[in-house]
Amino acid sequence: MDKNRLKEEIVKLKKQKNAVILAHYYQNDDIQQIADIRGDSLALAIEASRLDADIIVFCGVRFMAETAKVVSPSKKVLLPVMDADCPLADMATKEAVLKKKEELGDVVVVSYVNTNVDVKTVSDICCTSANAVNVVKSLKEKRVLFVPDRNLGEFVKENVKDKEVFLWDGYCPTHEEFKIEQLNELKKAYPEARIAVHPESPKAVRDAADFVGSTSGIIDYVSKTDGDDFIIGTEEGILYELRLNNPTKNFHVIGGSAVCFNMKKITLESLYESLRDEKHQIILDPETIELAKKPIERMISIKRN
Ligand code: 13P
Repeated sequence: MDKNRLKEEIVKLKKQKNAVILAHYYQNDDIQQIADIRGDSLALAIEASRLDADIIVFCGVRFMAETAKVVSPSKKVLLPVMDADCPLADMATKEAVLKKKEELGDVVVVSYVNTNVDVKTVSDICCTSANAVNVVKSLKEKRVLFVPDRNLGEFVKENVKDKEVFLWDGYCPTHEEFKIEQLNELKKAYPEARIAVHPESPKAVRDAADFVGSTSGIIDYVSKTDGDDFIIGTEEGILYELRLNNPTKNFHVIGGSAVCFNMKKITLESLYESLRDEKHQIILDPETIELAKKPIERMISIKRN
């Protein structure tokens, strides 16, 4: 089927089945275009908890679809591609977190939403990059184990001075690739450019930026800031929304390109097949849902940074 036909069929199926398509800002342009709701991981988790639909088709990576299932267990949640995994999430296991917690003694476990659901079942509160600083500030306890992204954890540490934050040694392979030398080259080519990066970027890159924040934070910053050129330090799927909102501005991704291959696995074809055959369903047992719900709902009650 050609693209237009696929799009028509997806829209038809969506209506027939009372389904809603959620897409993260890192998805392929075609997917973002056809989605009912685009957003960052926090916005999509909140939307999933409120949606009035029978089916949620989650165009993102597995932990995002799992989070949607946890906050909306009565709905059918579909992930169009079975193996759209997040390598960062796979860097922490429930067993390793429990072991670390025991070693450290009295700590609160703050888990980035980029964790697999079983890690959430042993976490006290979740966070996303949009609210991580506020989540940690909201805690009355002083000792925090931050799992699994060491760059975001370090960013939190720098912004919350009255806590002792223990970092996990995980990282996002896409953001970790950004190098200060690449950023400096772009700065030389576009000396007037403003720099906006995601907190999963390494410290040297964060320190050189004008703005550090989540994907929606970057989108907001760019819209509100004057200038012709912007240097962007996050996955390049974000360019879809940036260009849509700012057709006259120019965007330069650090290193020339930044692709999360897992995010890009979902295509119009797989989205269509997923809706048609109602696959691949996220199935979680009730106990897991019950345990993972607490830290996610606790996070949702905290405001964005
Ligand atoms: P956001 O919280 O900005 O959506 O980022 C999600 C993510 O997975 C970053 O790699």
